[in-house]
Amino acid sequence: MLTPIAPRVAGRVEGLLSSRWLSPLNDLEAIEDLIGRFDATWSLTRIKARVVAAIHETADVRTLILRPNRLWPGHAAGQHVLVEAELDGRRVRRTFSVSSPPRADGTLSITVKRRPAGKLSVWWNERASAGDVLTLGVPAGDFVLPAQPPRQIVMLSAGSGITPVMALLRDLGERAPATRVLFVHCAHSRDDVIFRDELEQMAARRPRLDLRLHLTGTHGRLDAAALSDLARTAGRDLTFVCGPAGFMEAVRAAWREAGNEDRLVSERFGLPASIAGGDASAPQSVRAERSGISFVAGGGKPLLAEAEAASLTPAYGCRMGICHTCACRKASGIVEDLRTGHLSDEPGEIIQLCVSAARSPLTLDL
Ligand SMILES: Cc1cc2nc3c(=O)[nH]c(=O)nc-3n(C[C@H](O)[C@H](O)[C@H](O)COP(=O)(O)OP(=O)(O)OC[C@H]3O[C@@H](n4cnc5c(N)ncnc54)[C@H](O)[C@@H]3O)c2cc1C
Ligand code: FES
Repeated sequence: MLTPIAPRVAGRVEGLLSSRWLSPLNDLEAIEDLIGRFDATWSLTRIKARVVAAIHETADVRTLILRPNRLWPGHAAGQHVLVEAELDGRRVRRTFSVSSPPRADGTLSITVKRRPAGKLSVWWNERASAGDVLTLGVPAGDFVLPAQPPRQIVMLSAGSGITPVMALLRDLGERAPATRVLFVHCAHSRDDVIFRDELEQMAARRPRLDLRLHLTGTHGRLDAAALSDLARTAGRDLTFVCGPAGFMEAVRAAWREAGNEDRLVSERFGLPASIAGGDASAPQSVRAERSGISFVAGGGKPLLAEAEAASLTPAYGCRMGICHTCACRKASGIVEDLRTGHLSDEPGEIIQLCVSAARSPLTLDL
């Protein structure tokens, strides 16, 4: 009878493994530390990746090519990943799209635009170099092609929003070269077009790729009429879009008007402006228990932004509810999940600060 014995055996094994007589052989952290001294990418539990090359794409965008260890499960083109780096002794996490499709040599690329005063993006562009080691999360996201790519696809991107779209385009080139692609990309000038040389070479080589670069510095932003035209051209074709919040909202409005919103697949790098900006809800007092700071959270804005405005520095990775880096225990009070409007008042529950707003006075473990 296996069932009654198994818990007892499991209990003994667990006891043995946690015995202090075996320490440090049974201490996972100590083992991790030890093997990490031989090679910083070796790990039993963490996906570590070494920077093997860097490419300057534009004046403020740089691609790092990474070689992950054996724990990397592989990704689908278009997915994103949480990246952790140690910067000046502090761990910083941010979410980035993988800009490469799956590659036979096991490497992957991530392409990052330098943001003014940004922590990780400035390091990425100015200080990262071959040999540096980063920790990666498990790839996630459904900005991916169907298993059987359709015969025609539309892709729209603006600025650094090109990164996941480029992964899709590169993947299609390898997996489904017969697919006809209309790709519209907006950038301020030719010099700001990320991957410009590769895109132009692809367009010259692939007669089924219709590449349209829209330079906003010369022609202004794509207006509602231009987007309506595009929506009509796209018709029922599956359309992938990624870019700044305003661009995404304008594209969505055009596709909605054309009755094809259900054919739009979008990837965001942040919350929609309508959520991030808050509303006119009543201000609430928030007590951050650990730091002893109290502040007022007003207007239905995410608690993460409100805490930062009060000089607190909660950890974050995506600022849009997908990575859980900002998870925080709420001792008491009512919060609203800004994505769903769901209110919850459970004491002691874990909330995500980046997508929660105060709907009553709150006490947080912060
Ligand atoms: C799914 C996803 C995929 C992404 N893919 C890419 C990619 O491929 N390439 C790329 O360049 N970027 C990408 N990003 C954005 C990236 O995660 C970082 O937000 C960006 O690089 C800035 O990080 P940072 O550490 O340099 O700046 P931070 O140090 O985080 O920010 C600098 C300042 O801006 C503020 N801030 C940061 N983010 C926001 C925000 N969303 N709204 C308002 N204020 C903000 C901070 O409070 C701070 O004051 C992606 C984001 C998501 C969620
Ligand atoms: S920062 Fe990623 S879930 Fe809040």
